[in-house]
Amino acid sequence: MKKILFVASESVPFIKTGGLADVVGSLPKYLDKEKYDVRVIIPKYQCMKEEYKSQLNYVTHFYMDLGWRTQYVGVLEMKYEGVQFYFIDNEYYFAGFKPYGNIYEDIEKFAFFSKAALSALPVIGFQPDIVHCHDWQTGLIPVFLKDRFHDGPFYANMKSIMTIHNLKFQGVWDMKTIKNITGLSDYYFTPDKLEMYGDANYLKGGLVYADALTTVSPTYAEEIKTPFYGENLNGLMSARAHDLRGIVNGLDYNEWNPETDTMIYKNYNAKNFRKEKVKNKLGLQKDLGLPQNENTFMIGIVSRLTDQKGFDLIDYMMEEMCQQDWQIVVVGTGEERYENMFRHFAWKYPDKVSANIYYSEDMSHKVYAACDAFLMPSLFEPCGLSQLMSLRYGTLPIVRETGGLKDTVVPYNEYEGTGTGFSFANYNAHEMYNTIRYAHSVYVDKKREWNKLVDRAMAADFSWKASADKYAELYDWL
Ligand code: ADP
Ligand code: GLC
Repeated sequence: MKKILFVASESVPFIKTGGLADVVGSLPKYLDKEKYDVRVIIPKYQCMKEEYKSQLNYVTHFYMDLGWRTQYVGVLEMKYEGVQFYFIDNEYYFAGFKPYGNIYEDIEKFAFFSKAALSALPVIGFQPDIVHCHDWQTGLIPVFLKDRFHDGPFYANMKSIMTIHNLKFQGVWDMKTIKNITGLSDYYFTPDKLEMYGDANYLKGGLVYADALTTVSPTYAEEIKTPFYGENLNGLMSARAHDLRGIVNGLDYNEWNPETDTMIYKNYNAKNFRKEKVKNKLGLQKDLGLPQNENTFMIGIVSRLTDQKGFDLIDYMMEEMCQQDWQIVVVGTGEERYENMFRHFAWKYPDKVSANIYYSEDMSHKVYAACDAFLMPSLFEPCGLSQLMSLRYGTLPIVRETGGLKDTVVPYNEYEGTGTGFSFANYNAHEMYNTIRYAHSVYVDKKREWNKLVDRAMAADFSWKASADKYAELYDWL
């Protein structure tokens, strides 16, 4: 039996700000329980969902050095859907309304978390063969494992994997502070290790020291070796190309299932969507105060409102999009200028735009079920889960061909009768707009073709089955 420890800053169902939580919370469930004992460590945030927080069991606590500080480390646990979760408790670090805040606070917070996660292992009696780290928040772990933790026999043979969910976020802060917090010697702060342009970089540390690297789609694995997508680490990504694999994310098909989903207005499946799916559109139109019309082309967006997701293209085209007979439903939070942009258009075109500037799982399910199309014109996209959710709900994705979007959405080919959505290549607002118009024309003029696209979208299999096998293969190889 191989023992694997996932360490991450978020996981469903406890705390989520994006796709990272979906992956960390679902992948462990789909690894073969006979062969792998997979456990997960995340922080115990004050802002965690109350229903879970109250169910956690106290395991132990101890004190740990962090630079010159000595800090309390509490350990709690809970088994959820067959997976053992641990939670690192420290009210000083994990207070607040959101898991992440100012980078200078987060830098210390996640140095604490990374060290605490490793230090807790002997105490809870779990000695993993592999520590699987996710994103910059856990980038110090492979470094620690090669450094002082290496001394004791307990840690000596532990291997580490660093998975990149988003190369843009690296955890960068000034070297002096990071030396001070981590207690790592000067040896580590050179350009071939943690240093980058005079600062220290957590993710880079992880990428240099982990035994294997993965990212969340094959296309993104290629893209990050180039300057455009490489976020100044493309050299390192190329140097470690042999240790880097792109494994596309799966989706928890039990959580995301239009046939059993309790949050949507009307359940449906691949057989009856032609009649039943539209009831979700009518329900959502009613709830959002949009004119109820089952024939109006409805476009959904559920997203963090950031540049990554291509909102400057949408911003640029929004006025023209509002001249069409379309309804645009947005659920998201993020950069203020995009929040206000959607609020503005919802005010100007109340019959066409519904701006829901908040985070709501319930509303996200309703949008995935109700809309005809889902818009995701990302500038870059390591994998993307929203388009997988859309496919599963028969809501056709309209995406830019980048990263995981390219690997998971097959563009409609009207001559061959293939495809599961619509896509465009260049990061260009008019290309996006023309692609939406093309999708709309298929929806209006060729309803049978549209429904066949939906058939294929709903039949596409992005459950964890295939991808969990690829992770298993990597664990065995290590
Ligand atoms: P990223 O991780 O870059 O944000 P993904 O597509 O991988 O992008 O995952 C985003 C996840 O977050 C999806 O599950 C999506 O439904 C969810 N999500 C994003 N914004 C919201 C919101 N405002 N309310 C509810 N869920 C949201
Ligand atoms: C990141 C990426 C997203 C990916 C998610 C889960 O947040 O932006 O593309 O799907 O991680 O891997």
